[in-house]
Order: sequence, then structure tokens, then C-alpha cells
Amino acid sequence: MITKETTLNEIQQIDKSLGLVLKRYTDNPNNDASSLEHLCQDEGYDPQFLASVLNVFHQQKETLEELKHFSVPVILDYLTRTHSFYLEKRLPEIEQTVEQLMKVMDEEEGHLRDFIQMLHRVIKKDVAHHIQLEERIFFPYVRTLHKALCSDELDNGMVQELRGYSAQIFEQHHDDTLERQLHWMWTYLAKFKPMGERLSPFRILVSQLESFEVDLRVHSLMEEQVLLPRVMELESRVNKRFELW
Ligand SMILES: [Fe+2]
Ligand SMILES: [Fe+2]
Repeated sequence: MITKETTLNEIQQIDKSLGLVLKRYTDNPNNDASSLEHLCQDEGYDPQFLASVLNVFHQQKETLEELKHFSVPVILDYLTRTHSFYLEKRLPEIEQTVEQLMKVMDEEEGHLRDFIQMLHRVIKKDVAHHIQLEERIFFPYVRTLHKALCSDELDNGMVQELRGYSAQIFEQHHDDTLERQLHWMWTYLAKFKPMGERLSPFRILVSQLESFEVDLRVHSLMEEQVLLPRVMELESRVNKRFELW
């Protein structure tokens, strides 16, 4: 179990892939003997929240319950950081591997080359689109709800924004298409046994896609099972006070 006293080095010894979660909070989590608490103190984050997130990634889904007790701004901050991490780190890394692979695959493999490039384009576009919808509509709506609860009265802009969206709309449109696409892509590619210089970038691509799928599944759980119930609770509190709906 990771706690706020666990060091960044120990976390990565427990599970190397957890470094990818830490990278949302620090540029270089490697060779760092400081504790989570120390990292968070310097940057103003909540160490208990980060420890719980790391435990969720480390196959302890029951810790998902714990996350529901953190404040909405803390949860939103994590989700926003994760979106940036996907756009700035994960997608460019996958793109780099695809480019490397294209250089070493020859004309005879034209069909597979086209297929990898096509899937890569689809994933890139769909991830960006999914994130854009949440960052432009859902997250601002949640921030406004949170702000409404601390306000004595609501201006017209806030009322319109709150009446124009809801947790229910988000829930209806949020699905696991991205995760399924990634799963299908890496399991399909894993069946190939490329030779020579193709082998290494091919394996790297399969592992990057698999790791991205796991990350996105946890991300969706955080949105649907941690954030969403909190948003519904906020909606009912705001409605009790301002009778908007
Ligand atoms: Fe998201
Ligand atoms: Fe999402």
C-alpha cells in the first residue's frame, strides 16, 4: 500500500509504470528519494489524494472509494493534468514510435503500414476530441457548479451555463470507445512477429498502446465513479438553494 510517506523511488520499485502517474505532478520522478508528502508540500498538492490515485493504478480498485472524499477541485486538477499528459506525452511518444516503425517497414508490408498509420490517426483524433469536449463543456460546468455553491446569488451567465448542461448529459455521452479501440489495436498488432529492426519499435508500440488503454480505463473510472457522483451531489445542493431545474 502506497502512503504519503512512500518515496518516489520506492513507488517505482513497487510498480515501474507508476512513474507515468507521477509524471503528471513532477517532470522527473526518477532517482528521487523524497516522499510523496515532500513532493506535494513543495508544489501545494494533496499527498493523500496522490497516494490513493497511485493505489488505484496499482490494482487496488477498492481505493477508488477513498477518492470520492477528496474535494471536487482536487479531482478536477488530477483529471486536467491527465488530459495534458495524454496530449503532451503519451500521444507524441506513440507518434514517435509509429514514425520509427514506418522507416524500417518495407514496401511489401504496405498493408500493415497503412493499417498502423490509419489507426494512429483515428486514436490521435478521437483522444483530442474526447478531451476537448470535457475541457470545454463538462469541466467548466463543474467549476461553475462549485462556484455557485459558494455564491449568494447567481448571475445570468451562470444560470444559463448550469441550465444548459448536466451530469446526466455527460453520463449519457461518455463511453469506453477509446479504450476499446486501443485494446483492439494492440491485441491485433501483438499477433504479428516482425523480424530484425522492426521488432523493437513494434514491441514498444504494442506496449505503449496497452499501457495507454490501462491509463484511460482508470481515467474513465475516475470521471464516472468518482467525479460524477460528486457532481450530482453538487447539482442537488445548488438546486435546493437556487431552484434552477
Ligand atoms: Fe477525461
Ligand atoms: Fe472521459
